Amino acid sequence: MTTAMRYADFAAHEAHDVSPAYERLSLAVSRDDEVLALLGMLPPIKRQPNLLFGVVRFLGGPVQDPAAFHRYTVRNWQVIEAEIRTRTTQTNEAGRCAVLLPVLAALPQPLALLEVGASAGLCLYPDRYAYRYGDHVIGCGEPILDCAMTGAAPPTRLPDVVWRSGLDLNPLDVTDPADVEWLEALIWPEHTHRRARLRDAVAVAASEPPSLLRGDLVDDLPALAAQAPAGATLVVFHSSVLYQVPKPRREAFADVVRGLPGHWISNEAPDVLPYDTLPTPPDASSLNVLALDGRPLAWTRSHGQSIAWFARREIPDDQVEQEPHHGLQP
Ligand SMILES: C[S@@+](CC[C@H](N)C(=O)[O-])C[C@H]1O[C@@H](n2cnc3c(N)ncnc32)[C@H](O)[C@@H]1O
Repeated sequence: MTTAMRYADFAAHEAHDVSPAYERLSLAVSRDDEVLALLGMLPPIKRQPNLLFGVVRFLGGPVQDPAAFHRYTVRNWQVIEAEIRTRTTQTNEAGRCAVLLPVLAALPQPLALLEVGASAGLCLYPDRYAYRYGDHVIGCGEPILDCAMTGAAPPTRLPDVVWRSGLDLNPLDVTDPADVEWLEALIWPEHTHRRARLRDAVAVAASEPPSLLRGDLVDDLPALAAQAPAGATLVVFHSSVLYQVPKPRREAFADVVRGLPGHWISNEAPDVLPYDTLPTPPDASSLNVLALDGRPLAWTRSHGQSIAWFARREIPDDQVEQEPHHGLQP
């Protein structure tokens, strides 16, 4: 796919109906020979719309008007290029905890949480946020994570987390204002509610900053998992990460995680892990599959807005003890 096609595709399939500003901008860039030539000097992985638009927003540039965006981008390319080369798209969405919570709450407590691809680690605090599943509220304080749930009753308890740690190729620091500004810039312009949620979640995380290790989810996972305390259920989890990982490395990761004690929760696009069958998705939006120990359980929306169960999530405690997760195949 050429860069022009990539931007046209982004406008039609990702930004359409979600971000009018990015839809306009992306379509304009797809027809803008000057900006396309600048992007052409970057490695292909660095030409993504989200990265360019995020950097321009981070630098305070205009993203509502394509003509103003063009002028700003061409005039300031040197500084834009430097930011693009050093930054990556690492959107950290605390809202995803709302789809992880039902599974976390059903596992034997207490939990030792290990998130791979943690970004700034905001999904490591599922016990500290409040949740609203329709009329059912659980937890207190901010942020309140709203989630529409079908196919099962909402959870009735928060997990008891006694250890939390994350792994990322490039961990971001919730106590570093520049990192937080970058996370804000990655949120699409119209999503003001998500920016408010990010600030609330950052405040929660900054009050007890997460332990985040710079490392790879295959090579560095066993050593970090070995640090989890005995007596707690180790839960390795990840959300919207594996699409960034090449297929052979995803397979290597699945092998490593199946070899660990405890449980494995994934919340990823349907095509990144090999499921035998998946039911028809509830709608045409881009959805993730929530799975426990390789067994798909539910469709989820990408920022945790909804969860549609298609399999039972409850795991009897006796089964958990007798049949560790690596006995379950995807
Ligand atoms: C889109 S972000 C998602 C962050 C977080 N999981 C969430 O749901 O909000 C993906 C993260 O995965 C990280 N990542 C990608 N490949 C990785 C790898 N091989 N090992 C560790 N982290 C990786 C990226 O650096 C990035 O921070």
